[in-house]
Amino acid sequence: MSFAASALRSAAVPRLALRSALPHAARAGARRGYASAAPGKGSNNGLIFGLLGATAVGGGLYLYARPDPNDARTVKDAASPKQVDYQAVYNAIAESLEDEKYDDGSYGPVLVRLAWHCSGTYDKNTGNGGSNGATMRFAPEANHGANAGLEHARNHLEKIKQRFPEITYSDLWTLAGVVAIQELGGPYVPWRAGRKDGNVENCTPDGRLPDGDKGADHIRHIFYRMGMDDKEIVALSGAHALGRCHTDRSGFDGPWQYAPTTFSNEYFRLLFDEKWQERKWNGPPQFENKTDKSLMMLRTDMALTTDPAFRKYSEKYSKDEGAFFSDFSSAFSKLLHLGVPSAQLSEPVSLKKVEDQAPATA
Ligand code: HEM
Repeated sequence: MSFAASALRSAAVPRLALRSALPHAARAGARRGYASAAPGKGSNNGLIFGLLGATAVGGGLYLYARPDPNDARTVKDAASPKQVDYQAVYNAIAESLEDEKYDDGSYGPVLVRLAWHCSGTYDKNTGNGGSNGATMRFAPEANHGANAGLEHARNHLEKIKQRFPEITYSDLWTLAGVVAIQELGGPYVPWRAGRKDGNVENCTPDGRLPDGDKGADHIRHIFYRMGMDDKEIVALSGAHALGRCHTDRSGFDGPWQYAPTTFSNEYFRLLFDEKWQERKWNGPPQFENKTDKSLMMLRTDMALTTDPAFRKYSEKYSKDEGAFFSDFSSAFSKLLHLGVPSAQLSEPVSLKKVEDQAPATA
C-alpha cells in the first residue's frame, strides 16, 4: 500500500460512524420490498458444472478447459440453480466483507467491481455477454487487462460457493455486488436469481469494458452497446465512491474519496467541490485533488463534469444523495441482469440488509 493510501486509511472516518451519518430519509426512500420466489428447476448439468467449478478452486480460478467441438452446450442449457436460500448466502457474504488485512478493510469494493465486470460485457446487438455465464472463470476472459485484480474477488467468493454449492457462480457474483452495495451503506438493489453458468465458449472478446484514460465518446460507445443511457452511465459511475485504483492491477493509483468503504454521493460532491489537476508521475494519466493530493479521478470520471449531458446528472447527484441512490439502484439492478433471458429469471428476491433483519430470538 502506498504512503498516501496508508495515511488515508488511518485518517478515514470510522466506517460505521459514517454509515449511520448517511441521511436516513435518503436510505429509507430507496428501500424496496419484494416477495421471495423460488428459482428455476435444477438439472444434471448443475452437477457437471458444480464438479467443474470445484476443480477450479484456488489459484486464479482459471479453468483451462479445452472446448469440445462436439459440445453444443450454451449458457441457455448449462447449469441451472437448485433451491437456494439466498438470504443465507447474502448473510454469509455480508459476514465475510470486513478484513483489516485486505486493502481498506473490506472486500466490498472489489466485489462490486466483479459484479460490474461480469455484467458489463453485454452487447445488445448480438445478445451475448452479460452476467449469464460467469465466463470470467475461464482463462481468456480472466486474463483480459480490464479484469486484472478480480481474482481477489473470485477467490474470496469461492469460499462462499463451497458453503452453498447449489448457487451458480453467475448468481453468486451478482448477488455479492448487491450485498456490498447494501452493506456499505447504499440503497436496496432489486435482484433476481436464475443465471446459469456457461462454458469457455461463452467468453466475450477483449475490449468490451471501458478504459480509464479516455473521454465521453468512449464511455458512450461502451455503455450504449450495453443499452445504457446517459443518466444510467453517470449513476453507475457513482460506484467509484467505493474502493481504489491499484498500480499492480490497472496501473492507476489511489481512491476517489476519503472513506472508500462507504457508499455515498461523496464521489460526485468531490468532483465539483475539489480542484483537480493532472498528476505528474511515472504512470498513466490521472488527476489528483489540489487540497492534499491523496485522492484521484480518472479521465473518464472528469468527463462527467465536462460533457454537458453527463454534467446535468452528476451535478444533481452531488447535491441530492436520495436521487443518486434511487437512480443507482435502478441502473445497477439493470446492469446485473443484462443478457439473462427473462424466462430464466425468478421474481425479485427479497434480500434484507443485516441491520434490517429481526434479531434472532433466544
Ligand atoms: C467509464 C467507466 C469506468 C471506468 C473507466 C472504470 C475504471 C476503473 C478502474 C481503472 C479501476 C481501478 C481498478 C484497480 O486498479 O483495482 C476501477 C475500480 C472500481 N470500479 Fe470502475 N470504472 C468504470 C465504471 C464503473 C462502474 C459502472 C462500476 C460499478 C457500477 C465501477 C465500480 C468500481 C469499483 C467499486 C472499483 C474499486 C475496486 C477496488 O477497490 O478493488 N466502475 N474502475
